[in-house]
Formats: sequence, structure tokens, C-alpha cells
Amino acid sequence: MSFDDLLHVGRPNLGNREKFLSLVNEILDRRWLTNQGPVVKMFENTICEYLGVKHALTICNATTALEIAAKALGIKGEVIIPSFTFIATAHALQWLGVKPIFCDVGPRTHNIDPTKIEALVNENTSGILGVHMWGRPCDIETLQLLSSKYNIPVFYDASHAFGCSYKSNMIGNFGSCEVFSFHATKIINSLEGGLITTNDSRLASKIDKMRNFGFTDFDKVDELGINGKMNEISAAMGLTNLECIDEFIAKNKANYDLYRKYLSSIPYVKLIEYSAEEYFNYHYIILYLDTVNSKRSRDELISILHSNNILARRYFSPGCHRMMPYQTMTDYSRLDLRVTELLSESLIALPNGQSIDDDDIAKICSIINNFISSH
Ligand SMILES: Cc1ncc(COP(=O)(O)O)c(C=O)c1O
Repeated sequence: MSFDDLLHVGRPNLGNREKFLSLVNEILDRRWLTNQGPVVKMFENTICEYLGVKHALTICNATTALEIAAKALGIKGEVIIPSFTFIATAHALQWLGVKPIFCDVGPRTHNIDPTKIEALVNENTSGILGVHMWGRPCDIETLQLLSSKYNIPVFYDASHAFGCSYKSNMIGNFGSCEVFSFHATKIINSLEGGLITTNDSRLASKIDKMRNFGFTDFDKVDELGINGKMNEISAAMGLTNLECIDEFIAKNKANYDLYRKYLSSIPYVKLIEYSAEEYFNYHYIILYLDTVNSKRSRDELISILHSNNILARRYFSPGCHRMMPYQTMTDYSRLDLRVTELLSESLIALPNGQSIDDDDIAKICSIINNFISSH
């Protein structure tokens, strides 16, 4: 069994290999490998055009980007975030000494439940960090109202949401700023990489300094900074990927539609839905298994898929509040996180992307069908 024979979630999209290699050759010829080189600038300009946003600042990864964004926004004390997210959302805050306060998510949206936020606000709350889970936008309008009411910034972890929209405007334009991941598993990858977008020029200038040690000129440092820069080879990969984004999304959508077709007649399972009114990247094929009525365990299905060389994933399980260090920090059993608990035991991420073909999808769905009907 080679790595190539495995069907797995998050297999990287590559884009045009010749284009990437020719950019890499140019970078090597130029010997300008990092520090806001021309490929990083080209990547950032192309992103601004694609998202219709004023500022796009590439960062070495999204976790560092979340840290820089929070620091630039003056976040301290506590921030309200969903517990149903990848651990990096919480870790980025905790790393800065900011306490993540976990809020439950909506059963249909899988996004932070705006009706449960106000109960968590107190004098230490300095922000709300929403996550556009699976690329489906948070209830941005309501979060904005809460942000104004309590005079605290709202910003977004948009790691899943490149190429997605809210009310027809591209994600990247909302809140004080938004953070994307270009990790290898994402719709667009720069090997490792991250991005902060904002329409606030003062914030952009602060982030620009912070990602480069606080430098404003040779030997001149204006404030505390870190090394958050993206290198030229990463930007070349990101740019190559971005040029193919329409192709990637079309393939993801075709895969999603095929999964839907095969799974629609199988009881107890349901794919998450993407509304027809917005743009989505269709990168996440998320299956909900009704474990109560089917009396089947999600983890058993995952093991059967794994034994058939299909590396489906438990995204995201358990909720952040059950992982360290959060598990022991507060008595989270007193918080109402019941939707997070349910989703983290019921969801399965199935393989998607350029390297999956129709036969693979038929095989995966047939294994799921056999699993359900064999009971
Ligand atoms: C929701 C979410 N936030 C943050 C991250 C962290 O991204 P990165 O690996 O670029 O640091 C990820 C990565 O998978 C993610 O899914």
C-alpha cells in the first residue's frame, strides 16, 4: 500500500506544476527568498482583486495570523469563540494569555450561536472571534450588532472560507479583519501559509509592522513584532493555486453533488448543505450520522473506512473545551455546549478535492450504505 493508494481528507491541490516550477526558478535566479519579495506582493495583489478587499497581508500560517490579528486589535482578557473548531482558534488566543470563552454552535449552521453570546459577555470580554465553519459564513450581521452594542471588535477565523461569500460579498471583507489558512489541506495552499484581510488601513499598517518584528525601516523598530512573514516559494505555490481556484471549486462541487446523489437514499446519514444563494468552495464534504436513531457509532464507521484505505476524519472531535489545557482550566460542564458535544460525536469529513474520482466516491458511499444496512 503506497501513500498514493489512500483516499484522504485534505489531499493537497497542486495547480499548474510548470507555472509553479517556473516561478521557483525565477525566485532562485533572483535570490530574493523572503522579506516581502515580488511573488509575495503579486500574491497579495491578486488576493485583493479576487476578494475585493483593500488589504491582504500574507503570514507564515493561520495560527500565527490569528495571534497577530488579536494582538493588533488590542485583544486581552477574554474572547468569545465557538468550542466547535480546530484547536488553533483557541490556542492562538491562549498563547497570548487571552482566555477563550467557549460558546455553543447552531445545530444546522455549525457556527457560533449568536443567541448564546450575550450570556458570556462580562467586563473582561475584549472580542468575539467567529469561525466560518466549512466555509459557511457566520451570522455576520448579528455578530456586528453585538460588537457595536458591547463596543468590542469581532473578527473571524476564515481558515475554511477562501472563495466563499456572505450576502454576495466575499468573505475577507467582514469584521475588523479576517484570517485565512493556506495550509496544504485547504482549498488554496501555499504549502504552509496564512493571510489577514481587512478594509481598515490603520489596522493593516499595524499588522504589516507586527509580522516583520515591528520594523518600519532598516534598523528602525516602532513596536513589538514577531516573524510572521511568508516566503517567496510559499507565495509561488499560493499564486499557482489561486490561478486554478475556479477549476478546484468546480471539481469540489461536482464531487459534492455526486456524494449527495449516492447518499440521499441512505437512512440516518445527511450531508451538510450549501445554500444556492452564496459562493462556496465546497471543500468540505461533511456527513452527519444520526447515531441515536441508527444506533451506530460514528467511530465504528470511521474505522471501517480506514480499514478500506479511506482516511475519513473526525472533524472536529472532541470540542476544544475537552482538550488540554482548556479541559482543566474551567468547569466547562457548567456551560451549555450540547450542540458541540453532539456534532463532535456525529460528523465525518469525507475525502474531496482534485485527486478524488467518481469511482472513489461510489466506493465510499457503498461502504457507508453497507455499514448502515448491515445493522
Ligand atoms: C478553523 C481553523 N483555524 C485555524 C487553523 C490553523 O491553520 P494553520 O495550519 O494555517 O495554522 C485551521 C487549520 O486547519 C483551521 O481549520
